[in-house]
Amino acid sequence: MSDPGARSLPEVARVGVLASGGGTNLAALIEATTAQGSPARIVVVGADRPRAGALQRARAAQIPTFVVLKRDHPDRRGFDRALVEQLRAHHVEWVCLAGFMKRIGPPMLDAFPSRILNIHPALLPAFPGLDGQGQAHRHGVRIAGCTVHLVDAGTDTGPIVAQGAVPVLQGDTEHNLQQRILRMEHTIYPAALRWAVEGRLTVEDRRVHIDLPEGEAPWWFDPTP
Ligand code: GAR
Repeated sequence: MSDPGARSLPEVARVGVLASGGGTNLAALIEATTAQGSPARIVVVGADRPRAGALQRARAAQIPTFVVLKRDHPDRRGFDRALVEQLRAHHVEWVCLAGFMKRIGPPMLDAFPSRILNIHPALLPAFPGLDGQGQAHRHGVRIAGCTVHLVDAGTDTGPIVAQGAVPVLQGDTEHNLQQRILRMEHTIYPAALRWAVEGRLTVEDRRVHIDLPEGEAPWWFDPTP
């Protein structure tokens, strides 16, 4: 007998993930979206570096992959168009940037309006751009963390969906802090993606209203003492 609460396959949102690095966030997203009843499925993983560990993780999970190299395109627009072409070929509806270290430009934003999520390793709007964890550590903050936001034309400026706070401990190195933030990223990103594909997000001005499932909240606190 079929479970009336279960979503049938055609309702499952098709997600494309773009990455540049090792792909631990991708791994967390794969784990969450392959769980029974997930409203999302990762249908393709793209990278701008042929040796990105994320590509290996995708292949191991039997997810199709592609590589788009910046140097093969005369300008950013061409690079973005190539990304759109690849994602469209896989009928992608939502895009997750998971450690993707290239700016997203108008062709991508027009192709996936308010449908691109990014994870950033800092509590935005503090410390946007590269090395958010290192910036926070060097600044001497007491509470660091990570943010999932919708992508707009700026650098890490889009509407905020979810945040996880991570305390900075006495004697923390940048590396320790980065690792604890990364673990928090693996918690908040799958939740934010699930809310997004379930149609729970509404953006008013730049504030995101979430029609949250019972018992869930869009913030997390690392329990590290
Ligand atoms: C993560 O910490 C992510 O937040 C960061 O890159 C790392 C990728 O790790 N992204 C950015 O800094 C984007 N501006 P991963 O490849 O193991 O997921």
